[in-house]
Amino acid sequence: MPHIFEFSYHNPTQIHFGPNSFAKLAELIPRDAKVLLLYGGGSIKQNGVHAQVLAALAGHTVVEFGGVEPNPTLETLTATVNRIKEQKIEFILGVGGGSVADGAKYVACAALYDGDGWDIVSGKHVPTKALPVGVVLTLPATGSESNAGAVVTRKATHEKRVFFVPPARPRFAILNPDVMASLPDRQLENGLVDAFVHVCEQYLTYPVGALVQDGYAEAVMKALKTLADNFAQRHETTWRQNMMWSANQALCGIIGLGVPVDWATHRMAVELTALYGIDHGRTLAIIQPWLLRETIEAKRAKLEQMGRNVFGLSQPSAGETIAAIEAFYRSLNMPVHLSDTDVSDPDAAARVMQALRDHGNAALGGHAELDEAKTERIIRAACTKQEQTNN
Ligand code: NZQ
Ligand code: ZN
Repeated sequence: MPHIFEFSYHNPTQIHFGPNSFAKLAELIPRDAKVLLLYGGGSIKQNGVHAQVLAALAGHTVVEFGGVEPNPTLETLTATVNRIKEQKIEFILGVGGGSVADGAKYVACAALYDGDGWDIVSGKHVPTKALPVGVVLTLPATGSESNAGAVVTRKATHEKRVFFVPPARPRFAILNPDVMASLPDRQLENGLVDAFVHVCEQYLTYPVGALVQDGYAEAVMKALKTLADNFAQRHETTWRQNMMWSANQALCGIIGLGVPVDWATHRMAVELTALYGIDHGRTLAIIQPWLLRETIEAKRAKLEQMGRNVFGLSQPSAGETIAAIEAFYRSLNMPVHLSDTDVSDPDAAARVMQALRDHGNAALGGHAELDEAKTERIIRAACTKQEQTNN
């Protein structure tokens, strides 16, 4: 039986790419709209992005709200929602990385919802309307600038949830690679790994003869691998623009169209951020190699294909591809086990498992038939020192 491609595709986010793209802001946001400029911890004030955005919006009425944290919290965003309502804001412009973009999407929906904002995050309320959102991206990694996903954490309960808000998908995204000049290496490394794993999640399942989706996935992964191999060139224009475009394409929705996907690495890794505050990209590098070892049978054919087409190995075994992926992460200074971080919680595996159970993610099923026993083996292998030496 052939695998049937079945999908509807429409990505309405206008992308404006390049060093002159800030100038587009003036025409992209209606002149009479009252704009909220939402930003993070202040990097945009130090690197000049804030001044450039304000200059481009000189003819607009702009209200500012900063302080969106990495892994944005419901608590901070709720304060923003109150300001939006009080000040009758009509357009949300997020200027930052994935956290600010996600925060912008959340507040755009919550501002038009009278119930408890957590309903949106937990999926109890699926928004059908949102204030219009635009994004000026300062950190290529998540793809949030042109997708409909968002991730918000409730600090009070250490819960970090992924949710989908199609009405808040950005109307436009400004991708100016020059903004990357001020990014610390750690964020570039996180971004490379996050984007790489986004492609893996939509590719590393089983072959269905999807020539375009596979070929495109492999092209984006090869680009990211090349950028990692040439990390020394990260201050050059060519490197930066390739990085920004790769990370966007990795999660703009096109790679996974009509093919089997498996987001298990993300579903598990999110708990490491919720519990221990580990950067998103790094949590993926901790979980994914162990997940691939546990699910090697179900993913064998695709792992072999990836070894050939992405890592250039001749006749690789699935295990060799996993080793290549792990070496790739190590080359980017990523932890590949929880013990590579400064977290030293002997109960980490039990805590992560409990969180996965609480959130309904302990037995994700899917093509690798992840049940609770498999999930537990993955989490123990990734989080318990003892298990690492046994493997
Ligand atoms: O807070 P500011 O001052 O903006 O500083 C940030 C932050 O400290 C800094 N930074 C950003 N651009 C900079 C810069 N520093 C100097 N120069 C620049 N140009 O970098 C730090 C990290 O920023 P953050 O936005 O948190 O990083 P990232 O883009 O990796 O986003 C991570 C968040 O996105 C979620 C993650 O779970 C996490 O909450 N994700 C969102 C997805 C989506 N919406 O599709 C998918 C992803 O899988 C991911 O889960
Ligand atoms: Zn991610």
